[in-house]
Amino acid sequence: MANWDEDLPTEAAALRSVPFFEGLTPEDLDRMARIGHRRSFPAGAPMVSKDEIGGGLFIILSGSATVQTGGKTHTLGPGQFFGEMALLAGKPRSATVTAAEPVEAMTLETMYFKPFLVKNPSVAVTILGVVAERLREVQDRIDSGQPVTSNET
Ligand code: CMP
Repeated sequence: MANWDEDLPTEAAALRSVPFFEGLTPEDLDRMARIGHRRSFPAGAPMVSKDEIGGGLFIILSGSATVQTGGKTHTLGPGQFFGEMALLAGKPRSATVTAAEPVEAMTLETMYFKPFLVKNPSVAVTILGVVAERLREVQDRIDSGQPVTSNET
């Protein structure tokens, strides 16, 4: 069977495998890949640090990373993203995200990614859905009286 991913540059083909990018045209994928940087992190390395200013979106291509926030550890794997909170709110990082094993990630700078979201509302809506789920998970724990211990503000 013909696979048109074969015609995409490697970076764009990597993004094609990310579920929330699957609706993008080859041109959009290529544009994303051009503004993205592929980065590798060894196990144990902080990928973003709490309170750090600036940043962008990280999409995990392989490996896994952990986020400790709201008194719980969340594990994120291939196809999942983080860094959207600082990007969308224009605030410092809300948590430290650490590579749990060697991680290959694509990073998208805020100054390029925000205009991309405006032009691709379906991607923005998908990101909003994930943010709502993350908030909801913490809210449910608060409402059920489970500890949400944190030294965060
Ligand atoms: P940001 O604040 O930019 O940097 C830390 C990231 O951790 C944050 O964006 C989110 O992407 C991620 N994060 C924060 N809270 C949660 C959560 N409850 N579940 C999963 N990821 C989270």
